Amino acid sequence: MNETGQWQIPEEPKQLLGAQAYTSPEWFAAEQKTLFARSWIFAGVISDLANPGDFTTAQAGPYPLTAVRGRDGELRGFHNICRHRGTEILEGAGNMGSALVCPYHEWTYDLAGNLRAIPDQADCFPELDRDALGLHGAGLAVFKDMVFLHPEPKADFQAWLGGVEDIAWPHDISTLVETRDVTYEMNCNWKVFYENAIDGYHLKYLHRKTFGGPAPTGNDWVPKGDHLVWYYTEDGRKSAIAKTVADRIKSDNRPTIAGAEAADYGGVYMMFPTTIALPNPYNFSVSQLLPLGPEKTLIRSRVWGIPGSKGRVNQNIEASERARDPRTGHVKIELLDCHPLETRDHQLEDMWICEKMQRALHSPKYSVGALAKGGGGEATMEIFQEIVRRMVQLDEPG
Ligand code: FES
Ligand SMILES: [Fe+2]
Repeated sequence: MNETGQWQIPEEPKQLLGAQAYTSPEWFAAEQKTLFARSWIFAGVISDLANPGDFTTAQAGPYPLTAVRGRDGELRGFHNICRHRGTEILEGAGNMGSALVCPYHEWTYDLAGNLRAIPDQADCFPELDRDALGLHGAGLAVFKDMVFLHPEPKADFQAWLGGVEDIAWPHDISTLVETRDVTYEMNCNWKVFYENAIDGYHLKYLHRKTFGGPAPTGNDWVPKGDHLVWYYTEDGRKSAIAKTVADRIKSDNRPTIAGAEAADYGGVYMMFPTTIALPNPYNFSVSQLLPLGPEKTLIRSRVWGIPGSKGRVNQNIEASERARDPRTGHVKIELLDCHPLETRDHQLEDMWICEKMQRALHSPKYSVGALAKGGGGEATMEIFQEIVRRMVQLDEPG
């Protein structure tokens, strides 16, 4: 970090976290309590919350949270737990009508979180003061039509943004339509996926058949606050999209999003810890990491684009559609009917490699020999690991 508090790309990058940080239940429990519980978590986009009664939900470590559009048009954040005996009230997203009703004993809150009705109150709770038992407030903030929640009502959103707003994408999500919503289930720690995502060194190799580049010198990750923003740099300027990909798309005359044609913004915004925004001239997507356990992570990927467009650019979605678990709808590597490297889907290539990394983390022979230098190499991993290490407080060192 320099004097202005900005992270610098380290000259000689080092692996800071040991294998147990990616595998142990103790680490995962500590992250839940001391990292995710203190983070801004993506909770949908403004169009999910257009009308009074619309709600979305999110999980910040141990805290179930909800964002609610009030009758007065205000958006509010609440802890999604009932003040009677604590049951989680809302699930997923939707419209709840004019009140939040707990499914257990039907305590009923208005859209501003006030407790309005208690069934059989005169008999069961004759003395209870309803005013004292409104929903607990949570932090809510909106950035470029993306809604974020935080367990702490007064958490500082601007400080968390850390300047990312100065280099944000030009897309206006409200003018686009949602074209895909898919959840992938991965047998890996959330940090294994995060580190793969900020690894500029693998693009040319693992993704030989999908991106086909760039080389480590042809891309760059730029730190902004605790976030990292990716640019393609091979053309001598910063761009959201690699030339190999841009050329391929140009040849099929895909329409571009008004205002987003220039591509002189980042192509990947890793918004620490769990939100990944992916803008480009053809669509906009958000991938959200949902850490379920030390070795199980969901990633939900929503895509917005011009009507008729399909998945993210350069992504062949057919293989993943055939690899959905019929029970959950989640896409899993073990359900693919061909090798991941034959799918032409970079997401599946990444998932495959992350699961291979996760298995290797258990080998007594596992170690990191060296990290590639440079912002387009693997140097950003040290920054990410330093942020994690600063936040996570283990009960016992481990
Ligand atoms: S726990 Fe919600 S009404 Fe009883
Ligand atoms: Fe990748």
